[in-house]
Amino acid sequence: GVDVSALLKETGYVTYDPGFMNTANTASAITYIDGDAGILRYRGYPIDQLAEKSSFLEVSYLLIYGELPTQTELAAFTDEIRMHTLLHEDLRRFFDGFPRDAHPMPVLSSAVSALSTFYQDSLDPFDADQVQATTIRLLAKVPTIASYAYKKSIGQPFLYPDNSLGYVENFLRMTFGVPATQYDVDPVVAKVLDMLFVLHADHEQNCSTATVRMVGSSQANLFASVSAGVNALFGPLHGGANQAVLEMLNEIQADGGDVDGFVRRVKNKEQGVKLMGFGHRVYKNYDPRAAIVKKAAQDVLERMHKPDPLLDIAMKLEQVALADDFFVSRKLYPNVDFYTGLIYKAMGFPQKMFTVLFALGRLPGWIAQWREMMTEPNLKIGRPRQLYTGAPERPYVPADQR
Ligand code: ACO
Repeated sequence: GVDVSALLKETGYVTYDPGFMNTANTASAITYIDGDAGILRYRGYPIDQLAEKSSFLEVSYLLIYGELPTQTELAAFTDEIRMHTLLHEDLRRFFDGFPRDAHPMPVLSSAVSALSTFYQDSLDPFDADQVQATTIRLLAKVPTIASYAYKKSIGQPFLYPDNSLGYVENFLRMTFGVPATQYDVDPVVAKVLDMLFVLHADHEQNCSTATVRMVGSSQANLFASVSAGVNALFGPLHGGANQAVLEMLNEIQADGGDVDGFVRRVKNKEQGVKLMGFGHRVYKNYDPRAAIVKKAAQDVLERMHKPDPLLDIAMKLEQVALADDFFVSRKLYPNVDFYTGLIYKAMGFPQKMFTVLFALGRLPGWIAQWREMMTEPNLKIGRPRQLYTGAPERPYVPADQR
C-alpha cells in the first residue's frame, strides 16, 4: 500500500531496492557466479574441478591470498593452522554457561565473538600481521569451537585437538571421539566432508558474507565481523535451510511419504510451507554445487551401507518439482542445501549441527571477503538510505494527556 514513487520524489534520488535484488555492494575479485548458466568459480577455477581435485585448506588459501599455493606454501599454512587449534582454557569454560539444549549456532557465534577478548593483540584491521594472525586463529579455532558446542549439547567431555591429524580429521575426532577411547576417523567420511567444505567455501555477496562486510565496514575486527556472519547464516532462508530440509523430509515421511500432497501445499502457498533447499536469488538454473552434492549423497549412503528412505523422498520431490510448471516457471531448482543434510545425517551429525558445518565451510570466504574490503583504498562504511513512511512532525503529548 506504500506509494514508493511519491516517497522517492520526496527523498530525492536514491535507489530503492529492498533485498538488494539488483544492487551490487562491492566490486570483488574472489568468486564468480553466472546464475543463468549455473557456473561457480573461485578465483577463476571452476567449482567442479576444485571439488574433485583440491582440498579445503588449499581452497582456503586460494580464496584468501588469491592464488593456489605451492606445496611449500600449503605445508606452511597447514602447519600454522595446526599450531593454533587449542582454545584458551578460560574460553573453554564459556561452554559451561550455556543451557544443555542450546543450539550450537549461537554457541558458535558467541565463542567467535569472545575470541576478540582473548586476542586483543590482533584486532587492528589495517595491520597486515595482525590480520594474518586473526585469519590463522579463526581457521584453527572454529572447528574446535564447533565440536565443543556439539559435545556440550550431548553432555560429553571435550577433547583437545590432536594435531597429528588433518584439519577435517581433527574436527571429526573432537566431535565424535570419546576421551581414553581409540577413535579412528573414517577416511571416506573425512574426504567427503572436506569436499563439502570446498563447495561451501565462498559464494560472493550472500546474506552472511554481505553481513561480514557490513560489520567490517565500520572497521570492526575480523572476529566480530565473522561472528555476525555466523548469526546471519543461522536463518532458515540461508544456511539454516540444510536443517530445515531434513525437517521437511522427516515430516513428509511421517505423513506416509506423500510427496505430491506436500508439493500441493507448497503450490497453494500455505503459510510457512516452502520447498526448502529449492530456489536461489542468483541461480536460475541447477546450482552446480547441488549437482555435486546429489551425486556424493548417493555414493556416500551406498558406500557407508546406510540406505536412507529420506534420500528417495528427496529425489522424488526433485523429480516432481522439476516437472511442475509452478517451479519451472519460477526457475526454482535444488540449491546446495537440498542434499547436504542427508550426507551429514549418514555421517552421524544431528540436525542441529548441519548449519554449523556450513559455517565451517564458509569461514575462508568470510575471511577473504573481509580482507579484500579492508585493503580497498577508499573504504566506506556500509550505510543504506531509507524511504520514510512514519508520522509527519507532531507536538509531544505529556503522559497525563494521552
Ligand atoms: N518453495 C516454494 N516457492 C518458492 C521457493 C521455495 N523454496 N523459493 C521461491 N519461491 C517462489 C516465491 O514464493 C516467489 O513466488 P511468487 O512469484 O509467486 O511470489 C518466487 O518463487 C520468487 O521467490 P522469492 O522468494 O522472491 O526469491 P528470492 O530470491 O527473494 O529468495 C530464497 C531466494 C530465499 C533462497 C528462496 O528461494 C527460498 O526461500 N528458498 C527456500 C530456502 C532455502 O533453500 N534457502 C537456501 C538458499 S541457498 C543458501 O543460502 C545456501
